[in-house]
Formats: sequence, C-alpha cells, structure tokens
Amino acid sequence: MTEYRSVRVALLGGGTVGANVAKILLEHKEELAARVGATLELTGIAVRNIDAKRPVDLPAALFTTDARPLILGADIVVEVMGGIEPAREYILLALNSGADVITANKALLATHGTELFDVAERVGAQLYYEAAVAGAIPIIRPLRDSLAGDRVQRVMGIVNGTTNYILDRMDSEKDTFESALAMATELGYAEADPTADVDAFDAAQKASILASLAFHTEVPLESVYREGIRDISAEVVELARYAGFVIKLLAIAERVTDEATGIDSVSARVYPALIPREHPLASVHKANNAVFVQAEAAGSLMFYGAGAGGPETASAVMGDVVSAARRHVIGGPGKSESKHANLPLLPISEIETSYHVVLRVADEPGVLATVAGVFHDHNVSVELVEQGVFVPASGPAGKASTTTLVIGTHEARESDLASTVLALSKLPVVSAVVSVLRVEGA
Ligand code: NAP
Ligand code: HSE
Repeated sequence: MTEYRSVRVALLGGGTVGANVAKILLEHKEELAARVGATLELTGIAVRNIDAKRPVDLPAALFTTDARPLILGADIVVEVMGGIEPAREYILLALNSGADVITANKALLATHGTELFDVAERVGAQLYYEAAVAGAIPIIRPLRDSLAGDRVQRVMGIVNGTTNYILDRMDSEKDTFESALAMATELGYAEADPTADVDAFDAAQKASILASLAFHTEVPLESVYREGIRDISAEVVELARYAGFVIKLLAIAERVTDEATGIDSVSARVYPALIPREHPLASVHKANNAVFVQAEAAGSLMFYGAGAGGPETASAVMGDVVSAARRHVIGGPGKSESKHANLPLLPISEIETSYHVVLRVADEPGVLATVAGVFHDHNVSVELVEQGVFVPASGPAGKASTTTLVIGTHEARESDLASTVLALSKLPVVSAVVSVLRVEGA
C-alpha cells in the first residue's frame, strides 16, 4: 500500500455543508489520497455547540468550540460557518499563518473579498470559493481558469435556489408566495434569514463575485443593482404566463460597450425578469440554478445543477480542497485574483433592455392614445399593446369601468422607462401600475 504524507484540514462549521464535507473527507480518504498524493487528515471541526444535532453522524472527538488552535495547526482551513465575524477574522488568521483557505461564504466575499484576496496574494496562499456561487455547479473555475484566455461578454443566471423554488411553485402549482417560501425554508434552501433570498441580497452577493471574476474588475456589492421578488404577486405571475413568459430572479453581469467611444463598462444587476417560456432558463425548476456565459470566442455556454444543499455544496468545497492540497504536495505560490481591467461600473439608469408594463386604466375613448403619448414623450418605443387581458375589466359598482393594458416596449434606456412609468402613474386615467418587468432572453 502506498504511503503518503499528510495534509492537515481544519473545518470551521459542521452544519449543512460542513458535516457533508467531513463525511466525504472521512469516507473517501483513500481515494482522495491517491488523487492528491497526500492523505487529507481532518484534524477537527469548530462549531458553536458541540451537542447540536448534525445532518450526518460524525465522531464526537472531532468537534471543538475552540477554533483558533485548530486553525493554527492546519495546512488547509475550510470555512463553512457563514456570517461575517468571526469568519473574516478566522480566515485572516489562517492565511497569515500560512494555510490555504476554502470558503463557501458569499456574504463575506462580497463584502470583504478585496481584503482577503490581498492578504492571500501577499502571503502567497490560495483562497478558493467555488461553493460560494451556485452550490454544486462549477462556475468559478470555468470563469477564472477555463475562460481566462477569452473575453467574457455576459453572465446571466439563476443563482438563488430559494427564489427559483418560490417562483416555480407560484407558476406551476399556483401556490402563494408565503406557502412556497415556507416550503423552501423547510427544505433547507433558504438562508437563516430568508430576507437574504427574497430581497435578493444573496443573489446580489453572487452577482458581485461573478462580475468581478468575469470582467477582471472590482465590482463592490453596493454597485450591484438589486430588486427582490416580494412584489411578484399571483396576478403578475398569471399575466406573465398569459403573455408566454415565466418570471425568474436573474443575476446579470455584462460588458457594455459605448458605441460612440468604444469604451467598455460593467453592469451588474439582479431583478425578477420575464423570460420566454422556450428559453432554456425557463425550464430551470425547483431550487436548481443555471448560469449562461457568453464569451467572445467560446460563444454561449450553460452551466446547470443544484444551487444549494449539503452534499451538493460539499462537492464544490471538496474540489477546492483537492486543488489546494495538490499545491501543498507540488509547492509554489497560490493563484491571485486578477483585477487588471478595472472597468468603470455602469449605473442601472444607463442599462438598455425591453419592458412589459401592465396598467389598470379607465375603459373609455382616448385612453390608449394618451398612454401611448406618454411612452412617445419619454423616448420609449412601444412594440405591442394588449387590452383587457386576464384581469377582470370592470371596476367597483357605480364607478367608471376599468380595463388592463399590457404594453411591451422595444429596447429602451432604464432612465427613460422610469420617467415614463412615473408620468403614467400621475395620469388620471391610470388607476394602477400593476407591474413593470424587464424582459431578458427574448
Ligand atoms: P449552517 O448549517 O448554519 O452551519 C453553520 C455551522 O457553522 C454550524 O456548524 C455552526 O455551529 C457553525 N458556526 C456558526 N458560527 C460559528 C462560530 N461563531 N464559531 C464556531 N462555529 C460556528 O450553515 P450552512 O448551510 O452549512 O452554510 C455554511 C456556509 O456555506 C455559509 O456561508 C453559506 O452561505 C454557504 N453555502 C451554503 C449552502 C447551502 O445549501 N446550505 C450553499 C452554498 C453556500 P453549530 O452547529 O454549533 O450551530
Ligand atoms: N439560500 C441560498 C439559495 C443557498 O437559496 O440559493 C445557496 O447559496
């Protein structure tokens, strides 16, 4: 039997992800040793409560509440505890003491990534984070390594399993938002505070990470435009279905080239959007994730799979552990993050896309012309108008009757669309702006 040297692996966190990482390290020890050329020795698991119930059975002797000695004795530290502190402090301690670090913590990377990557580069350590975006799906490595010789134009994806699960149930089961969210939480997809999912903070963190990587530019979380799915009512889902669309929460990172100057900028944004039912992203169901990458030479690539879950996310963590361990065997410095392009960041007001605006209006002569005039006055070109669809056309008894207007636009600038909607909302003939949704992938 081949004898190997040991690479010491410390786990910070033994919850949904951590317990499954420990399980793989223990159960596949020999196979992993043959792949790495060294035995991956799990030295301990730092947790808050040693007696807490774990998703898998693990030897009690591995658990500790004292993270620091564990970190100081490790070659590789795997941070799967989540949150900002003490995760940040522990990762800095690990890097500064010469260990490589693997993390699944998108919240930490999106807020303190620059600091952590700078320290990793200074000390020549590796900081890997495949599991931080889209769970089991390999997307970080393809962007960082496989496409490093190409020029990425656009990354568009469903990167939050909880909101996809909710929107999918609202669409396919006609479930309510509240009931679908309760199920997503019960199934373990949602963050400890599901506001992070529903209000798209989680997706924005992932968009910040993807945009920074894809465009070799620092894209801080604050510069990612964010809209969550709270306003997506059953009525809005039904209207989308009627028009041949499905609603998905999308994270989009794109290179935008100014036609006049040829200067590139980066836009990073997260919002619920209408996707044509025949688009491949429309068939991403339940808590699955999918990411489309368009690159200059490679063309369109699609990555699909489980975006969350203990064993699934542990798979992505373990890929990083094996890579980091191989470097311990071979030697040499870690790879640093490249931010050489340093492209300017584009505000959402400068983005161009097409829209569907749904209005409830008075059902009387001249209303359509008045509404169309507002679009024209704000430089937004109308592509289609449909009246009286789906929503009951009559208003309350004794009042003038109302009807629904669905207006689809050609590509328009976000700032022009925003002023159009503001002006529409002030028209006496408009009783409600039911929804304003961007159309993507059409
Ligand atoms: P989790 O189930 O809540 O587990 C967190 C673990 O960290 C627990 O074992 C907890 O200890 C430990 N912990 C928390 N704070 C600690 C502290 N201050 N000191 C020591 N231990 C501490 O979380 P998770 O779902 O595994 O997620 C872990 C990370 O992976 C997060 O960054 C998350 O965003 C990311 N992630 C998760 C998924 C997923 O599907 N779950 C997918 C992708 C990425 P106790 O057990 O004693 O409470
Ligand atoms: N809450 C996250 C989601 C977990 O629903 O996608 C994976 O990052």
